[in-house]
Amino acid sequence: MRSQLSETLGHVAPGDIEKVWLCNFGIEANEAALKFARAATGSTKTIATVRGFHGRTMGALSTTWKDKCKNPYEPFLENVEFVQYGDVDAITTAIDDNTAAVIVEPIQGEGGINPASPNFMKTIREATTEAGAALILDEVQTELGGQTNFGPVSV
Ligand SMILES: Cc1ncc(COP(=O)(O)O)c(C=O)c1O
Repeated sequence: MRSQLSETLGHVAPGDIEKVWLCNFGIEANEAALKFARAATGSTKTIATVRGFHGRTMGALSTTWKDKCKNPYEPFLENVEFVQYGDVDAITTAIDDNTAAVIVEPIQGEGGINPASPNFMKTIREATTEAGAALILDEVQTELGGQTNFGPVSV
C-alpha cells in the first residue's frame, strides 16, 4: 500500500521524482528535508529567507524568520543565514560549496502573501544545483508544484 501510494505520487508530482517520503505534517517534511540535505552534502549551512515560515519544531523554527515565534526557545541550529526574499544577488552570494540547503517558499504565506519572482526561484534552482546543495521548496501552503515550474525539489 505504502509503496503503491509512493509510486503514484512520484508519477503525478511534477518533475522526475524518484524518491518519496511519506509524512503527516508540514513540519515533518521540513525537518526531514533539512536532515536529508545534511546527510547528502555533509554540510550544515542552511539559507533561509527574511519573513519565511517553516514551522515550529526546532529545526524548522531555526529557519523561520519571525522573532515572535522564536522567543524564548533559543538557541537554534547554528549556521542558518537569512537573505532578503527576492534578492537575487544576495542569494547568489550566499550559496556556496559549504551550503547544505536553501529552504524557501514559492509564495511566502505567514509573512504576508509575497510571491517570489520566477527569476529569484530560477536563480536558486541553478545556484543550488551548481553548488551541489539541496533546494527545499516549502510548498505546504502552495501545493506541490502548484505555483512553480522551476524544476523538481532535489537533495
Ligand atoms: C509554509 C509553511 N511551512 C510549514 C508549515 C508547518 O506545517 P504543519 O502545520 O502542517 O506542520 C506551515 C504551517 O502553516 C507553513 O505555512
